[in-house]
Amino acid sequence: MAAIFSLVAASSFAEFHWFEQPIKMDASLSLLAVGDWGRKGTFNQSRVAEQMGRIGEELDIDFVISVGDNFYDTGLVDVYDKSFEQSFTNIYTAKSLQKQWYAVLGNHDYRGNAVAQLDPILREIDKRWLCMRSFMVHTDIAEFFFIDTTPFVKKYWKHPKKNHYDWRGVAPRKKYVSKVLKDLEMALSKSTSIWKVVIGHHTIRSVSEHGDTEELVDLLLPMLQEYGVDLYMNGHDHCLEHISSDDSPIEFLTTGGGSKAWRGIYNPNKVDTLRLFYDGQGFISLQLTKTDAKVVFYDVNGCILHSWNRTKGWHPYI
Ligand SMILES: *[C@@H]1O[C@H](CO)[C@@H](O)[C@H](O)[C@H]1NC(C)=O
Ligand SMILES: *[C@@H]1O[C@H](CO)[C@@H](O)[C@H](O)[C@H]1NC(C)=O
Repeated sequence: MAAIFSLVAASSFAEFHWFEQPIKMDASLSLLAVGDWGRKGTFNQSRVAEQMGRIGEELDIDFVISVGDNFYDTGLVDVYDKSFEQSFTNIYTAKSLQKQWYAVLGNHDYRGNAVAQLDPILREIDKRWLCMRSFMVHTDIAEFFFIDTTPFVKKYWKHPKKNHYDWRGVAPRKKYVSKVLKDLEMALSKSTSIWKVVIGHHTIRSVSEHGDTEELVDLLLPMLQEYGVDLYMNGHDHCLEHISSDDSPIEFLTTGGGSKAWRGIYNPNKVDTLRLFYDGQGFISLQLTKTDAKVVFYDVNGCILHSWNRTKGWHPYI
């Protein structure tokens, strides 16, 4: 069954790069997600990493997701930039974190050499690292759609002389964004997965510093709702948030607490239901089975701040 399923899937997503991620024998999976982290261990990055190691062990995680802003302040200089080891390899050293990492780019990554982070040479330095612009990870019970959200945001394209963004392979914006949306729509429309999770750096809903990202609310959210996406995970705001959509089953999860936090900005949103806003460092875990999803939010000491779960009943494809 699994083999046939992946064969069918493999031929269906020609536009997105696509990876098969094995899960546990009992058809469950667990993972951690963290964002906004690469500061050579400072601002409690190392403490968060240590707790990720402990919780990762407890949950026997299958992989890790990075929601972007991988290297501060301005991404990597090139593939030989020592920040890669100083902020990644030498920080996430726990045994349980020696798994595949799937990463997207954040706006700070675009301010350096964005192309360097995508280079397979980094995988020779640390084989856990896999960063691409937009791609998909397929498992037998869930599909993960990673979206490159930085080019969506119009303000980054203004004043190119003042602010450097590495738009190689991306410009012009309109064409790139419409291609990403078209590919995502194709992938979502063909997905028969029980759980659908979309990952991007920027917020769709947030009550902190950056608030909602208008371009994503306008262009991405309607598609996620149309195709029944269960979870949207992001960083960008350096805090932890759980917001439930009021008009669809989608849950918005902000996991931007990988290092510098405590921004002290809280702007309550008129739309949707806020379940958690924590202004400090931390990370989240996601555990999935065929029928159940569970999300847990942890602080810098690994203490549970909030948890949430959902059960799905009968599913036509299983
Ligand atoms: C790091 O975490 C400790 C323990 O919670 C806290 O006392 C300290 O203020 C944090 N440091 C930063 C820079 O956030
Ligand atoms: C799921 O959430 C409900 C409350 O909404 C709680 O009573 C239950 O214990 C949770 N189940 C798990 C497995 O965490």
